Amino acid sequence: SAPVTLPALKVLFSRQQIADRVAEIGRQIDRDYAGQSIVLLGVLKGAAIFLADLARNISIDCTFDFVAVSSYGKGQKTSGAVKLIKDVDQPIEGKHVIVVEDILDTGLTLDFLHKLFQQHQPRSLRIAALLDKPSRRMVKIEADYVGFKIPNQFVLGYGMDYAERFRNLPDICLMPPDYPE
Ligand code: PRP
Ligand code: MN
Ligand code: MG
Repeated sequence: SAPVTLPALKVLFSRQQIADRVAEIGRQIDRDYAGQSIVLLGVLKGAAIFLADLARNISIDCTFDFVAVSSYGKGQKTSGAVKLIKDVDQPIEGKHVIVVEDILDTGLTLDFLHKLFQQHQPRSLRIAALLDKPSRRMVKIEADYVGFKIPNQFVLGYGMDYAERFRNLPDICLMPPDYPE
């Protein structure tokens, strides 16, 4: 079975690069929603760390909520089917909502969630994704706030997992190409 640590991880974005970019996005959100209240709506589990850091770079009034959707599972491939496993705790009707995601990949997750949340008639609905892999997109969806655009490489750390591990890495790292499935 897979070892508990990964050998020779290449850092794609360091904790400092991430912190700087997250701070910029926070300042942008403060400007865009000045004088208003927002809901930061995180998608478990990958977005947890980005949401925690982004929230602390936002000065305007804000609340948190979380949803969970069916996951990729243990492999690197998407099953394509998205299902809601945990709904919001508080109604989002009439609220300014920002869906917070770690990564926008095929877009299936955010496309599903965006359509679902739109039906709840929020006052506004935007997406913040720390990473964007546009080359992988299967449906037409874009984020309003993007941290970094990246090529088609499997990334982990800063919330992102391989078989549920390595979410706790402070940097965003590249999966070794020879790592066992
Ligand atoms: C990952 C990631 C996004 C989604 C992006 O979540 O955190 O939520 O996949 O992929 P997509 O654009 O192709 O839909 P995952 O399903 O692995 O669950 P996790 O957040 O619990 O790791
Ligand atoms: Mn996720
Ligand atoms: Mg995952």
